[in-house]
Amino acid sequence: MQSADKVAALDEIIRQRRTLKVLANEPLPETTPRELVNEIIAAGAWAPFHKPSSTEHRSQMSSFVPWRAYALDAGACHRLRQKLINVGDDTKIVQMLAAATALIQVTWLPNPPKGATDAPFEATLENMEHIAAASAAIQNMLLAATARSFESYWSSGGALRETQVFDWLAIPQKEILLGAIFLFPTDADGVETATGKLREKRGPIESWAKWLT
Ligand SMILES: Cc1cc2nc3c(=O)[nH]c(=O)nc-3n(C[C@H](O)[C@H](O)[C@H](O)COP(=O)(O)O)c2cc1C
Repeated sequence: MQSADKVAALDEIIRQRRTLKVLANEPLPETTPRELVNEIIAAGAWAPFHKPSSTEHRSQMSSFVPWRAYALDAGACHRLRQKLINVGDDTKIVQMLAAATALIQVTWLPNPPKGATDAPFEATLENMEHIAAASAAIQNMLLAATARSFESYWSSGGALRETQVFDWLAIPQKEILLGAIFLFPTDADGVETATGKLREKRGPIESWAKWLT
């Protein structure tokens, strides 16, 4: 591909990426193209990161990057949905787990607090940069998903960020959920969809960026 074509293709993917929540009352057929999902996760690897994660996070998975990703295929999403239903969850998370082709739980890895604190993490520059790096990894995944014709949704997670779900999924409790990334098929029948509420609220570029002299 010529360079100008590559630029146009990348810009197009960036603009095409959108939030789409896909909601189903009953589980959709369990089809997960694992190779494509692996490619999407692999795109996350190339996010910039400034500082290595603390060694306390490197025992289960050894990477220096300050994020981790845990993937659930459609079958695992359906089993998680049933567990949530069993404990009385009737939120949209349950409906999205019924519709998802895959869910990627992306966590960030806070540094251990140096002093006593009740906060979930210390407000340090390093922690801010760990979150920033993990966010860049998520955006890479969303763009890779868009390029592969998945609909996607970055959710704060609701019940998916809670201790109980971390236990069920064997995600270390010291990690913090940054995004529950839902991947949906584009062609599902009998589902409801909703776009992101703030999509059209960005305003023009001049309302958030300017040249300085
Ligand atoms: C960190 C983060 C958390 C989000 N959590 C939620 C959420 O819990 N519920 C929701 O409806 N949208 C959530 N969103 C998606 C936004 O609503 C969406 O990005 C916004 O409306 C703009 O739409 P767009 O993604 O289509 O551009 C989240 C986005 C980010 C970056």
